[in-house]
Amino acid sequence: MKVDVVLGLQWGDEGKGKIVDVLANSYPVIARFQGGPNAGHSLHFEGKKFVLHTVPSGVFRKNAVNIIGNGVVIDPIIFKEECLEIEATGVPVRERVVISKKAHLILPTHRILDAASEAAKGKSKIGSTLKGIGPTYMDKTGRNGLRVGDVLTADFADRFLTLKNKHLATLAQFDYEFNAEEKESEWMEAIEYLKTFNLVDGEYVANKYLTDNKKILAEGAQGTMLDVDFGSYPFVTSSSTTCAGVCTGLGVAPTKIGKVYGIFKAYCTRVGSGPFPTELNDETGEELRKKGFEFGATTGRPRRTGWLDLPALKYAIMLDGVTELIMMKADVLDTFETIKVATGYKVDGVETDQVPYDTYAEIEPIYKEFKGWNRDLSQITREEELPFEFMNYVRFIEKELNVPISVISLGPDRVQTIFRNEE
Ligand code: GDP
Ligand code: IMO
Ligand code: MG
Repeated sequence: MKVDVVLGLQWGDEGKGKIVDVLANSYPVIARFQGGPNAGHSLHFEGKKFVLHTVPSGVFRKNAVNIIGNGVVIDPIIFKEECLEIEATGVPVRERVVISKKAHLILPTHRILDAASEAAKGKSKIGSTLKGIGPTYMDKTGRNGLRVGDVLTADFADRFLTLKNKHLATLAQFDYEFNAEEKESEWMEAIEYLKTFNLVDGEYVANKYLTDNKKILAEGAQGTMLDVDFGSYPFVTSSSTTCAGVCTGLGVAPTKIGKVYGIFKAYCTRVGSGPFPTELNDETGEELRKKGFEFGATTGRPRRTGWLDLPALKYAIMLDGVTELIMMKADVLDTFETIKVATGYKVDGVETDQVPYDTYAEIEPIYKEFKGWNRDLSQITREEELPFEFMNYVRFIEKELNVPISVISLGPDRVQTIFRNEE
């Protein structure tokens, strides 16, 4: 069996949580492979709403195993809070979630380092979620990190202290006030909670499922345009958000990758700093934010909004090897008279359909305009009922991207999902 993959193709918040929850019905195993509590994946069903940060979005499906892979970074405090909230609804989290011993731990001082680093950057800050993501991955690649499996060792407290002291030495170089002990006892208590979970050799577990004919759905966090290598560096996250990240973040070979679902919003959003070629700093942008409730699921920050960007999508599709597209939130555009799509860029006056290397380049999008459909799409459940103008928009995008749109999401709830060509 193969690992099918769900990836955000834009700057995150495409609706990955909703789609993983919907697809999880037909997967016995769901897995997160990168990122950490910087993610906020929203799920709506049966009148309830959940925002997941660390736990995979298959947790509400009976009989599904949810793996937190080695590529993920875990803040025990946030993980505990999240699990208690899920448990309170009667879901047996411990039976459904296993954690790779090779996943790295976010320490309280990682979060302080994140904040200190952002404060020092001033105007050129990344706009990080301040969850300690960057410093934790730095310690991972710097070979200093603490891993989940370490919590089972006798000298864990000493190792914690060694890393904390290293952080304190670094923090001394910043002009930043902090209290390193403030969260420490809560963190240690949360470590005890983490220990009650099944801590596993994730790579063996994942591959065993595959040889036992159980398919896995890998759930991406963030989006391709925030990838540490291919995003708008340095305004990126610190993990590999592309399809390649599944292999290193779960321990599965590239030959085991099956379908790659690329998720995109029918427009664009971005939280934090960095280039956003189609950004709208006007009333239309404000309308997109209002109608789409574009406020961060993790930080509550207003998301920046803009028109759909095809050059960026083509780039992501190329990097990820997307086999099927999933279009989200077109219902947000229901009342727009005119809808624009960027089909190319003018970079320093020269036309191109490529994303430029230079993060600071002046990019002027080249737009194609579409007539809006002016109809409420949110209650439509069959493709045949979708208005002509909307299908015109869908077909144009499919043709430009050369990948079929197999699922259309028209609202936050599980049931507001249209599968096309289901046969
Ligand atoms: P994720 O990080 O990719 O899982 O996405 P988020 O949960 O951060 O942001 C997506 C937001 O859009 C959430 O509030 C979802 O409930 C909501 N959402 C998802 N799909 C749709 C849709 O098709 N239409 C509308 N209107 N909202 C949606
Ligand atoms: P989901 O999984 C949107 C952004 C931050 C910032 C940059 C770096 O919900 O789509 P970090 O905390 O990772 O060091 O921040 O990346 N960012 C996200 N934006 N959705 C996310 O996750 C994000 N995770 C990080 O806003 O610009
Ligand atoms: Mg999100």
